[in-house]
Amino acid sequence: MDSYLRRVFMLVLLTPLMHLVSSDLRGLGYVFIPDAETWEEANQCCRTCYSGLLTINGADYEANLDDEGWIGLNRTDGSWTWINGEPLDNLQWHKDEPKDEEDCAMWKYGSLKSEQCSSSKSFYCADQKLVLISEEKTWEEALQHCRDLRSPSHDMWYDLVTLEMHKDKTFAMEEAQKAATDEVWTGLRYLSSRWFWVGDGDKAIRHALPACPDQNNLCGAVSKTRRLQTRNCMERKNFFCQRRECD
Ligand SMILES: *[C@@H]1O[C@H](CO)[C@@H](O)[C@H](O)[C@H]1NC(C)=O
Repeated sequence: MDSYLRRVFMLVLLTPLMHLVSSDLRGLGYVFIPDAETWEEANQCCRTCYSGLLTINGADYEANLDDEGWIGLNRTDGSWTWINGEPLDNLQWHKDEPKDEEDCAMWKYGSLKSEQCSSSKSFYCADQKLVLISEEKTWEEALQHCRDLRSPSHDMWYDLVTLEMHKDKTFAMEEAQKAATDEVWTGLRYLSSRWFWVGDGDKAIRHALPACPDQNNLCGAVSKTRRLQTRNCMERKNFFCQRRECD
């Protein structure tokens, strides 16, 4: 191959890789969608491309939410509950809120306001790429679990997480503190004489890994104190699924 062709070839090969490298697992954690929808439609829309309507319990999003829109909070059986099942704790309702006849919540004036679920509003979706699954599974069961999370429309799919960038490994380690197991499976796997990320088979691995691993240590996990280590694939651990982009 002459040098010009080789250069073009490399560019074609590298372009998708650079795109992937520039995406960041932590992200903002949410996206604002300006379209006007009812609460239920908004939640459906968020579930198609994101992780449902945004829930803001315990997170420090509030200061950053400048727009007004639905969030993932409604009144179910008489009590206000986040759609992830958590009860409402100490978030502030706006003055004279909530109203008796209004069962869905929006973010407005830097606080919570109730509204009729059937009114049309802009909305906030949770945009979490890294999802900790608190079930204890072997590496292969975990992979299957992530892949089964695929949305019916196939716009969105999941895989065990790829942790190539240093900041993604650090973020995963922070998130691993919430796990019930000391280690959490990632998509790192040794098969057919090489290490690879199951969700990004072509991505070069920069992490130093044993070239001839012990047969009992062929799967990669992140722990609460260390970034990546190789473990026995049959051990049961919590695991990280990674949400992949809608087109
Ligand atoms: C509240 O949200 C739940 C889903 O978390 C849903 O099943 C229920 O219908 C919603 N209630 C209202 C009043 O929209």
